[in-house]
Amino acid sequence: MTATEAIFTDNARATLRAAYPETPALLDHRLSEHPLLTNAALADLARAMRPEDVEYNRGDLPVGINPADVPANGLGILETLENIETNGSWMVLKFIEQVPAYRDLLHETLAEIEPIVRDITGEMIDLQGFIFLSSPGAVTPYHMDPEHNILLQVRGSKTMTVFPADDEELAPSQAHEAFHEGGHRNLEWRDNFAARGMAHALPAGKAIYVPVKAPHWVKNGPAASLSLSITWRSEWVYREKYARSLNATLRRLGLNPAPPKRFPHQNHMKSLAWRAMAKAQRALGRN
Ligand SMILES: [Fe+2]
Repeated sequence: MTATEAIFTDNARATLRAAYPETPALLDHRLSEHPLLTNAALADLARAMRPEDVEYNRGDLPVGINPADVPANGLGILETLENIETNGSWMVLKFIEQVPAYRDLLHETLAEIEPIVRDITGEMIDLQGFIFLSSPGAVTPYHMDPEHNILLQVRGSKTMTVFPADDEELAPSQAHEAFHEGGHRNLEWRDNFAARGMAHALPAGKAIYVPVKAPHWVKNGPAASLSLSITWRSEWVYREKYARSLNATLRRLGLNPAPPKRFPHQNHMKSLAWRAMAKAQRALGRN
């Protein structure tokens, strides 16, 4: 790309506008030659980041795995990054906005779609970026994420299989509630789920929009892969989260509350009730 060229094509933005926020959508992007995404630049980024924001492990995982069972790869951060073609690993650099040049890249990329987001779900909140490096054939197990997310495939290829976000069997209410109380993003996988997912091929130059909490898993192609994930939240995301927290409390009281509804339903009542309860708890805690 040149300095004047947009990262997302006009066609990609039109596709996103038609799909956002509840439908997965494939988008074209022009980020693959960006100077901040060379191996040398990424090594500098990894060195500049808080070590706790670099997570990595072996890449030869099954689709479903308990996070406690994920094996370490026995290597250091830079060794994992520099030899990703051959060391059978999966790595994520989390919250790249902690480094100014990458914060600028994240903000510039999201600015191109901000008018679309604003029209539909309002203000773009909590802009965060993640860079994923993975070895040939590496698997990201079945999980859900709590943000609006566009994953841009920069080098190599992946297949992302995305599942409906509103299926109680694929991601039970209890899993959502546990997640919001600090649990892991990985979900329990059953082989009979497979037919309910849609597999999306992601060669370099393609991106995919993934709806909030739509379960998915990822399999790397035959070459090492580099992807950039650009994420944001919306008021809807927070209302869904607060409704889940209220439901967790109700469930502990022996009730079986209905799950929050998907967009465009706003989950106002439960969200307001949870905010009022949390405020009252804080007030009581001060006395
Ligand atoms: Fe994900």
